[in-house]
Amino acid sequence: MMELSLSRCLVLVVCVSSLVSGHDDNDGYTAGAPGAPVRLSESDPGLLSALRFAEERYNMLSNGMHIRRISKILSATKQLVKGVKYSITVETGRTLCKKSAELQITEDCEFFQESHKQKTEVCLFEVWNIPWENKSTLLKQKCQPAPTETKKVVRVPLTHDKPTKENVDLLMQFKDFMVKYNRTYSSQEEAEKRLRIFQQNLKTAQTLQDLDQGTAEYGVTKFSDLTEDEFRMMYLNPMLSQWTLQKQMKPAAPPSQAAPDSWDWREHGAVSSVKNQGFCGSCWAFSVTGNIEGQWFKKTGQLLSLSEQELVDCDKLDQACGGGLPSNAYEAIENLGGLETETDYSYTGHKQGCEFTAGKVVAYINSSVELPKDEKDIAAWLAENGPVSAALNAFAMQFYKKGVSHPLKIFCNPWMIDHAVLLVGYGERNGAPFWAIKNSWGEDYGEQGYYYLYRGSNLCGINKMCSSAVVN
Ligand SMILES: *[C@@H]1O[C@H](CO)[C@@H](O)[C@H](O)[C@H]1NC(C)=O
Ligand SMILES: *[C@@H]1O[C@H](CO)[C@@H](O)[C@H](O)[C@H]1NC(C)=O
Ligand SMILES: *[C@@H]1O[C@H](CO)[C@@H](O)[C@H](O)[C@H]1NC(C)=O
Repeated sequence: MMELSLSRCLVLVVCVSSLVSGHDDNDGYTAGAPGAPVRLSESDPGLLSALRFAEERYNMLSNGMHIRRISKILSATKQLVKGVKYSITVETGRTLCKKSAELQITEDCEFFQESHKQKTEVCLFEVWNIPWENKSTLLKQKCQPAPTETKKVVRVPLTHDKPTKENVDLLMQFKDFMVKYNRTYSSQEEAEKRLRIFQQNLKTAQTLQDLDQGTAEYGVTKFSDLTEDEFRMMYLNPMLSQWTLQKQMKPAAPPSQAAPDSWDWREHGAVSSVKNQGFCGSCWAFSVTGNIEGQWFKKTGQLLSLSEQELVDCDKLDQACGGGLPSNAYEAIENLGGLETETDYSYTGHKQGCEFTAGKVVAYINSSVELPKDEKDIAAWLAENGPVSAALNAFAMQFYKKGVSHPLKIFCNPWMIDHAVLLVGYGERNGAPFWAIKNSWGEDYGEQGYYYLYRGSNLCGINKMCSSAVVN
């Protein structure tokens, strides 16, 4: 046993023997290999914040009435993987504090003295911190009752202050948001900062709502705790704003007939289910695979779900999670020889080494074309040929919930395109002409993953970057 003092004069007991015996199930790490786990120094500044994060998340997800706290660290390692991944084995115990609305885990929460009441558990937590994005994720939590022991427990220090309760309504909304979207924050300061952003975003959503000229509803979404800049950085595609630099593509052959009044490729089996790009600016890849899924369906009558990860890993013309251009992606797919399926080359949401296997290609393309800029022509082309890769200024999308979105132009500068999507259809709803837009932010975004944008005034630059692969 080794003891050390920490800032708030509490004592952490680190069981050194268990570092060697290994409570975790991924033993056998080799020291020195790049990216390999390293045994954690007890002075690692990230450890305590990772512990607090795990403790909060653990309590949030558990059904127990009483708050459980970490009583002892059994082992801890960290590994550098786009940030730091902590693997921590701890003992936790039940405290006298009952869970309240705000889930305040404070030092005042005393452990039950009797061990049968404390119900000690041994838990393995894996916490992934991306410091430069201020993001923590609980990757793994495995708890089981501890073998009965009588050791004295010690506390992990906490630096939380009690939150000011100035606006109960806002707090309730924020708490609903946190529960609904699984949010936890690494510290009280972070939570308070996010609350302020949330409050600001409610105002922005209200402004969008007040000024919307369509039928859209804006409000709390899973992005409500992100500033506009963070949202842009994490989910949007900065490379698209350089769309004027993109390679010239061949112009698409004009459609042979005028556009029908409405069309929806979802009703014709050409659209796979809504996917989720996660924490990665890879919308361009989803836009392109969606288009090729449609083109392949048109050719073969078979709807496949195609791999975005192949593009994230193997498309050297684009920048993986840092953004990309559909025009580059088509070229990359031609050079690679085609796309694998989603199942064979599945999505991880971060760049890895290219694992493309030519033998697993299920769909190829022969070239790509750029569509006309007139929305009527785009509609006619879509109805005749399949879903269209498109891009737009996504500002009004952050707080969109449902309906036909028709933001004022000042919110949606058509020259600031930052998100790639898939046009799957168009029509009119209560007199409002719309584009049906397949997004890649999961099914819990918008209307089952779709965004509906007003059609007819080149809104948000939706007409500027329409393209398609060509399969001969
Ligand atoms: C992370 O938090 C620190 C301190 O709170 C702040 O200075 C920094 O700008 C934040 N970074 C991001 C990406 O939010
Ligand atoms: C919340 O997180 C848990 C575990 O991390 C996961 O199983 C669940 O699907 C998540 N729920 C939502 C709404 O994201
Ligand atoms: C289209 O591309 C595939 C795969 O590269 C190739 O086998 C086929 O011959 C091409 N078709 C035409 C008409 O060029």
